Order: sequence, then C-alpha cells, then structure tokens
Amino acid sequence: MTRLSAITPSGHAHLGNHLGAIRRWAREGSAGDLYFVSDLHAMTVSYNPSRLRSLSRELLAVLLAAGIKPDRVFVQSDLVRELGALSWVLECTCSFGEAARMTQFKQRADGQGMVRLGLLTYPVLMAADILLQGATEVPVGQDQTQHVELARSLARRFNSTFGEVFVVPRAVMAPTAARVMDLSDPTRKMSKSTQDNAGVVFLLDDPDLVRRKVMRAVTDNEKRLEYRPTTQPGLANLLEILAACVGRSPIEIADEYSSYGELKEAVAEAVVAELAPLRASTLELLDDPKELDEIRAAGAARAREWGRHVLESALRMAGL
Ligand code: ADP
Ligand code: NA
Repeated sequence: MTRLSAITPSGHAHLGNHLGAIRRWAREGSAGDLYFVSDLHAMTVSYNPSRLRSLSRELLAVLLAAGIKPDRVFVQSDLVRELGALSWVLECTCSFGEAARMTQFKQRADGQGMVRLGLLTYPVLMAADILLQGATEVPVGQDQTQHVELARSLARRFNSTFGEVFVVPRAVMAPTAARVMDLSDPTRKMSKSTQDNAGVVFLLDDPDLVRRKVMRAVTDNEKRLEYRPTTQPGLANLLEILAACVGRSPIEIADEYSSYGELKEAVAEAVVAELAPLRASTLELLDDPKELDEIRAAGAARAREWGRHVLESALRMAGL
C-alpha cells in the first residue's frame, strides 16, 4: 500500500498545517507512505518565482524536521520531466468536459485576473503525481475527492484502451484531525494564502511573535469559558489548539480556566513549546544548504526510479 500526500508551497507553513496534517504524517505514517512538496501546483495562480523556490525549500525542511523519513519525501518539480510527459499522455486520455466539470476549478478561477490553462489541467497533473508513484490511496479532504475520482477514471480508461499500466488509486477520507481557524477571524480556516497574516501562526514565527498573535486572538464578550464552537468560535478555536498541543479534550480544558487572558497565556505557551523543536530543526536544516540539497536529490532520485517503469510502459503503450 502506498499513500500519497502533498503540501503546496503557496505560503509559509502554519500551525494548522502542523496540527492538522504534518504532525500526523510524522506520527502515524506507515512505511509505504510518500509525501511531496507540490511546487508545480503553486504555479496555477499568480506567483513569484524566487519566493516559490524558497518556500519549497522551507516546506521540504519542515517535513524533514517534523520527522518524516528523508526517503519518503520529494519535491514535485524534481520530477518535472517525468510528470510533464505523463501529464501529456493523460491529458490526451481526458475529455475537455471532464476537466471543465471540476468544481474546484470554477471556484479557484473566480477572481483570477488571468485564468491559467494550468489551473484547468491541474487535476490531470495531480493524476500524474498519483499514477507515476503507483499510489493506492490518496488521503484527501472533501474538496479533493473529485480530483482523485478523475485520476481513477483516467487510470481505468488508459488501462482498458492501451493495456494495464496504472494502479487504480482510491480516495480515502483524511482522518478528521484538528481544524485550526484563523486567530483574527475564527470563521475562516487558518491558511497559507491568507493576505492578512495577523491571525496565522507560522511554524517559523519566533516565540514572541507567536505569543503576540495568540494574545490578540479574537474571542467574544460572553465572558463564559465554555467549549461552544457555534456560538463562541474564537474561544473554541483556542481551546482546540491547546487541546491538540497537550493531547487532551477542549471541554476538559475549558473547566480549568476562568478568564480569557489566563487561557490565552496557556495557549501561547503550549504553542511555543509545541513548535520549538520543529522550528529549531527546520532552521538547522535551512542553515546547511548542502545537506538539504543532498537529502533532496536522494529523495528525487528514488521517486524518479520508482516512477520510471510506469512512465516507460505508459509511453510505449500509448504508441510512443
Ligand atoms: P493551506 O490551506 O494552508 O494552503 P494546504 O491546502 O496546502 O494548506 O493543506 C496542506 C495540509 O494541511 C492538508 O492536509 C490540510 O488538510 C492541512 N491543513 C491546512 N490548513 C489547515 C487548518 N487550518 N487546520 C488543519 N489542517 C489544515
Ligand atoms: Na490555501
């Protein structure tokens, strides 16, 4: 079994990525799991090239620092030639209607000055990511199941038209881990791509900045310290963050505090403590570019080698 997960370098990694995904990947991942930094996917909207390069590097360092095994991680663009070739084959297996039907395309195209063709074909590149590595399972949130369904259809169609090459993947629901909300607007998810960063705790923020962001978190005027996600979302978010950091339940924690200030201080300290080792190891890796380059090159070589056979068979069967 190979499970494939990715993180897009569209911004700096944050507390939500850590508590909701990265920490779980490092703790619960099994030997066959694979992780990659999806920098090619970050090019589907307007972006800055040098920022993309440094964010990809940073995310790779974060994944390694979190404890994911170096031989299970790679950067997507290190396989750009293989993925480009396979994407073309798959694009010629996919109908325009299928691509145009993707609901995420419609959402993401909305509000883009220029809608890049890559935004439309991105699910096909995602299919190439999955099929090249022969992934059997792709853990996804609700918003990505349609894309994994497309990868499934394309694999099946290719196999039945040209011959059995691809493992047919299936989407698995990512376990519902902590969902961290933005500290200055608890109605929205903490996200890399939020313009206003005041409510986003980045993994590399220094401890004082983390404390300031937590202390300024939006709560409410109810002065009732209970875990009520629908009526007191800001407070519930703080309780959930603390609960995720210390491994307890938010309801239990709510019982122990009587003032918002006292709770915020506890949250700030717990987050600082949770992030300290990750931050230190990430900075250490970023400080030694040669070492990081070597790890990266080894991961890329391994992923390329795993995919080589699939790619060669697919090209040959497609008539190339
Ligand atoms: P972002 O929305 O910050 O760009 P991604 O879409 O790249 O994050 O998600 C990478 C991983 O981090 C996914 O597994 C996603 O479920 C998880 N994740 C992202 N934001 C949060 C959040 N606020 N709370 C919990 N998990 C999150
Ligand atoms: Na995002």
